Amino acid sequence: MAAAIPDSVVTTARTGAILVVTIDNPPVNALGVAVRQGLAAAIAQAQADAAVAGVLLVGAGKAFIAGADIREFGKPAMPPSLPEVCRAIEDCTKPVVAVLHGAALGGGLEVALSAHYRLALPAAKLGLPEVTLGLLPGSGGTQRAPRLMGVKSATELMLSGKHLSAKAALAAGLVDQLVEGDDALAAGLAYANALLAQNAPVRRTRDIAIPDPAAALAELDALKADTAKKTRGLFSPLKIIECVQAAVQLPFDEGMALERSLFLQCIDSPQRAGLIHAFFAEREVVKVPEAKAAAPRAFASIAIIGGGTMGAGIAVSALDAGYPVTMVERDADSIARGRANVEKVYTGLVAKGRMTEEAKAAVLARYTGSTSYDDLANVDLVIEAVFEDLEVKKAVFKELDRVCKPGAVLATNTSYLDIDAIAAATSRPQDVIGLHFFSPANIMKLLEIVVPAQVSADVVATAFELANKLKKVPVRAGVCDGFIGNRILAVYRQAADYLMEDGASPYEIDEAVRGFGFAMGPFQVTDLAGGDIGWATRKRRAATRDPKARYVEVSDRICERGWFGQKTQRGFYLYPAGARTGQPDPEVLAIVDAERAKKGITPRSFTADEIMRRYMAAMANEGANVVNEGIALRPLDVDVTFISGYGFPRFRGGPMKWADMYGLPQLLADIEAFAKEDPLFWKPSPLLLKLVQEGRNFDSLNHSA
Ligand code: 3HC
Ligand code: NAI
Repeated sequence: MAAAIPDSVVTTARTGAILVVTIDNPPVNALGVAVRQGLAAAIAQAQADAAVAGVLLVGAGKAFIAGADIREFGKPAMPPSLPEVCRAIEDCTKPVVAVLHGAALGGGLEVALSAHYRLALPAAKLGLPEVTLGLLPGSGGTQRAPRLMGVKSATELMLSGKHLSAKAALAAGLVDQLVEGDDALAAGLAYANALLAQNAPVRRTRDIAIPDPAAALAELDALKADTAKKTRGLFSPLKIIECVQAAVQLPFDEGMALERSLFLQCIDSPQRAGLIHAFFAEREVVKVPEAKAAAPRAFASIAIIGGGTMGAGIAVSALDAGYPVTMVERDADSIARGRANVEKVYTGLVAKGRMTEEAKAAVLARYTGSTSYDDLANVDLVIEAVFEDLEVKKAVFKELDRVCKPGAVLATNTSYLDIDAIAAATSRPQDVIGLHFFSPANIMKLLEIVVPAQVSADVVATAFELANKLKKVPVRAGVCDGFIGNRILAVYRQAADYLMEDGASPYEIDEAVRGFGFAMGPFQVTDLAGGDIGWATRKRRAATRDPKARYVEVSDRICERGWFGQKTQRGFYLYPAGARTGQPDPEVLAIVDAERAKKGITPRSFTADEIMRRYMAAMANEGANVVNEGIALRPLDVDVTFISGYGFPRFRGGPMKWADMYGLPQLLADIEAFAKEDPLFWKPSPLLLKLVQEGRNFDSLNHSA
């Protein structure tokens, strides 16, 4: 045995003629500077030691290597660079084998592609997911993957960021062999020794010629047109294609140089900062005090009260996660409707060929409808999704209190109501929590976990565990009108109405919001959700509205005509013959004009930039209020809420990250300027004022919880 490099995240040990190089940098063996140095030293050691005939690269723990260390991006680069390490591996004159037993992603796969042979175990997952972080594979991935697996498949892999199973990677030509089992070291040694016994040569990926360059370039042109359409505004996807074009057209070293320069452009892009913020925020968001303090309660069965839009979606989500579901409705007709709502989802999957009739039957066998609360005596977790009416909900919770066993978790899906008041209707407020799903609940990722005053920590921990099982993105929220998301939405939606009344058309506003990166603008969203829902809320709140506050009546005028959006083929837009894409409606513009005239407003014009400054200032300022009041634990919780539940463009990192990148002093100056027109609406958040005064940003609060 040769000496190991001491105290290193990369250790070497000789087994016979094989130098085993172990990467041990928990949790995922990311390629930080110490790993890069260790790998470079290990290859040099192999090269120098006459007793070494071959090298085996193996990852300790659950991953081979999950990629570059994302935390290093944006900081000064430390040598050696990963391309240099990969070059050293590929240059090695003794065969280098990589054995992949877990994540081999990004730079991790690039290390493997630089090795001369690749062996995979069944649990390996391979991919080049850099695009999801606003990057491109920057250590030869764009040059080596096309040589190994073909131009089209490699480009698609890089553009999608998808992970391949070991089996798929073998079929694609990314690995040479697949072996059963989970002992990477033993399998890798056996494979490497067999290669040495056969005198297997050093085989460099860079030496593989790409066949039929003309056909490859034509494929890339097609992918480019498609990508430009699909990835609206994203920086790195088209750069990936440029790199692959270079792989086809240029010598390897020139391709590598181009890849490097485009990679560095991606690193400098604000999209990289936004996407990496989103990556870490989604991992931080589950770290809440209650989940740290308490273990979740065990739950094996779920009941849902109310089988309408939300109840049915939640039921599907729970069924998909494998739970038995009991649905309680008011009467036999409602039970039938609830069941039909659930069945419709699975029937749709069967029709699309994504589920068999047998699988559908098996799922529905776990579903029971009932009109009797007594059927819930043994259930572990209940989610109420009845009408949004406090008295109706209180009555339901009284029933749940009567029938449910001690320790059952009792949750409400209310959008706005006071969950403390709902909890107070029971004799066990410690078991009552809010689980605010988003519509359609079986598809939308966001789950606001709303924490009332008296709930016990283990119930909060259970809610996070449920989110995990249902594959939702959970965000902890405090009790207030609208929690995190809907409360902030109400404010920027108002800003959009003011812009409309002051001179921007709803179509200009929607276009500006889409231009920023949202899939839809606010007026399109209203048409999709149904204008009647907001109208009912406005009517309910009319009596309590501050008479001094500005109130835009355009939406009311539209609803009074029965124009509720897509479902009535008319709202802010026209949807002739049930079209999904709306057309501008001159009659809506006339209504807007009439409302302006009524208030004596002379319309002015707004550029897209001016529209977005107001829209985003309203969003980020209310986000600051929500953090300041402890409704959101940290700014990152607001960011994750908007990315996962409100179509906020992920590449901008969320509204609070956007504000940091825009600059808090400028944001404050904007709000103060807008306040000159409407001081009641535009009030800088105390948190924004404080941070500007202290020269800090929102992100500084993300690391203190
Ligand atoms: N760098 C730094 N930290 C990383 C990391 C990375 N590449 N990948 C994961 N981590 C951290 C996570 O932040 C988390 O930290 P925490 O425990 O403090 O919250 C921890 O590792 C565990 O991660 P997950 O919670 O995500 O664990 P999972 O088991 O669910 O998933 C994974 C593991 C599939 C590897 C997932 O973490 C993942 O997808 N990681 C990112 C992979 C990636 O994008 N690689 C490409 C990086 S860019 C690159 O390589 C550039 C190159 O081309 C030059
Ligand atoms: P819905 O009107 O589609 O469904 C409500 C269902 O509850 C109906 O099927 C009704 O028969 C049933 N119901 C009413 N009283 C009942 C009772 N006492 N016992 C049993 N069943 C009863 O309403 P929707 O849209 O599903 O909303 C339900 C809840 O979810 C509301 O609190 C709403 O605020 C909330 N929510 C709604 C969202 C949406 O986009 N629709 C999004 C997030 C939350």
